[in-house]
Amino acid sequence: MSLEGKVILVTGSSQGIGQGIVLRLAQAGANVVINYRSHPEGAEETLAKVQAIGGKCHMAQCPGAQGHTIKADLGSVQEVRQLIAESIEHFGKLDVLVNNAGIEKHAPFWDVTEADYDAVLNVNLKGVFFATQAFVQHLIETKRPGKIINISSVHEDLPFPNFTAYCVSKGGMKMLTRNLAVELGSLGITINNVAPGAIETPINTQLLNDPQKLGALLNNIPLGRLGQPQDVASLVGFLSSSDADYITGSTFFVDGGLLWNYQEQ
Ligand code: BGC
Repeated sequence: MSLEGKVILVTGSSQGIGQGIVLRLAQAGANVVINYRSHPEGAEETLAKVQAIGGKCHMAQCPGAQGHTIKADLGSVQEVRQLIAESIEHFGKLDVLVNNAGIEKHAPFWDVTEADYDAVLNVNLKGVFFATQAFVQHLIETKRPGKIINISSVHEDLPFPNFTAYCVSKGGMKMLTRNLAVELGSLGITINNVAPGAIETPINTQLLNDPQKLGALLNNIPLGRLGQPQDVASLVGFLSSSDADYITGSTFFVDGGLLWNYQEQ
């Protein structure tokens, strides 16, 4: 699988799954835009790793992957539009958009504040909607096909008590994907969801530090371990490539079997 010559923006890629995706794409030869909101040091670390990959690639005489970092808050439509415009300006075009940035807030439904609801929905759904729109406008203007990959969650289908706003955002993402697969198909634009289960990343810090909760979660995962960012990244690499040209409107779960593991206790 080669992504040489492709330009790919991964939102929220200063850490966690996003960082893993950037590194996988760079290994396949893509030029990558690394987006961050509040962790410039994470973005710099990601960039340094991309440069190391690009350097090695160069020595083996293939066009090395390049990286570029851009700060933008996905919760602001203005910043989202700026992010897409700057990505295109830097590399001359965009071929693939990976909508990865996401946040979650823990609270029982009856305590969810308007501010927390807005924060989650703005980043996880509104930002994705308008990033995708700006990307599609660019593809239409340049008369080119393209690929959109959304990092959703098992919780686009599976209830997650105390995270209702998060589930609403991921359920919305599922319908965004289905709708746009139909609406954008004639333009040669594909869109798919990658839906991780429990992956070892900063979004799960609280859980990772609670042995009881972690043990209970591991009991629900048939493969018996948490996922790693690279488990998700390898699928995103495939979906970004021409090997996936005929795939659109689908969700792919990367969850060690968590979603379908109902057990009578
Ligand atoms: C959430 C994690 C959770 C996992 C499995 C993810 O979408 O971000 O907090 O552990 O789903 O439930």
